Amino acid sequence: MFKLVFKQYKTKSSTPDLRDVINFDDFEITQNDLRQNDNNVQRLSIINEKPIQMIPGIKSPNDWRSYKLTHHPGIVIIRNPFTERGRRYWIARCLRDYPRTPNVVNLNERLFNDSVRSDWWKQLNLCSDKDEFQRIKTAMRWTTFGYHHNWDTKLYDEQMKSSFPEDLSSLCRLFAFTLGYSDFKPEAAIVNYYPVGSTLSGHVDHSEPNKTAPLFSFSFGQTAIFLIGGTTLEEKPTAIYLQSGDVMIMSGESRLCYHAVPRIIKTQRDSTSMLASEQDDDSEIELKLLDTALFKNVCEPTFWEPFSNYVDDSRININVRQVLNLGDFKL
Ligand code: SIN
Repeated sequence: MFKLVFKQYKTKSSTPDLRDVINFDDFEITQNDLRQNDNNVQRLSIINEKPIQMIPGIKSPNDWRSYKLTHHPGIVIIRNPFTERGRRYWIARCLRDYPRTPNVVNLNERLFNDSVRSDWWKQLNLCSDKDEFQRIKTAMRWTTFGYHHNWDTKLYDEQMKSSFPEDLSSLCRLFAFTLGYSDFKPEAAIVNYYPVGSTLSGHVDHSEPNKTAPLFSFSFGQTAIFLIGGTTLEEKPTAIYLQSGDVMIMSGESRLCYHAVPRIIKTQRDSTSMLASEQDDDSEIELKLLDTALFKNVCEPTFWEPFSNYVDDSRININVRQVLNLGDFKL
């Protein structure tokens, strides 16, 4: 059943029927009730009594719109809790910084030279040939850091790890803490790059020795149709839209469920007007958790332009996991 639904959304020969795809924007909130009566979607109120260290570029948890899926216990979706400037910051980090050596990228050494493989974004933007630019741009599909996922053995290895960025660690800890997972340790990340037309087939994330810690997933750029199924491929998956800025948490039962991305849909446009309407949020807030220069620069039109062009026809997903069980020091 999972594979059949995947194929229906992936189809290139016709436009798929999108009526069953859950769009959280259809669920307008009136006094904590969902106006639209879908028994699979429920509003989730996040109440946090303890003070949290906030990060610039994220709205206050009191303003987050959060949902759970009753047919898939453990799935939580927070609908874009980022400011426009915050989204830009993470997009720029994923493109400019995260795919650099010593982080690992998918680019094949037979097809790309060392300069491209060690600093993809820099070389991409130095490239003046249109076809070569497109080839380099669309070849980037993932980068890993922290513990590197070994796609062949499907194991993590203590010898294969690079440092985990402080800012991304703070971001994950903020969401983990707010949702009650104060012990969560971000130890491995995969950033997936999806040019429109690309897909990710059904799989379960079971490489981590720790299979109970939640998984945090951040989406930026164009919209994904995301399928969440059960623990076997027999079960029919639910299709949801993951839009730019959405944060999804796979916890509890859903942590070991099949999931996939059968389609990327071009829906997002340039949001410069949103940026203009935002308050200047760097004056008072503690910036030391972020790359301060980058947080300022993403508001500059010329600096932002190449990043904007990239997400105009692509999606980026940051997927963060805890690898070790509490008390384990080494694999
Ligand atoms: C993944 O499962 O690794 C990525 C999912 C996504 O792109 O949303």
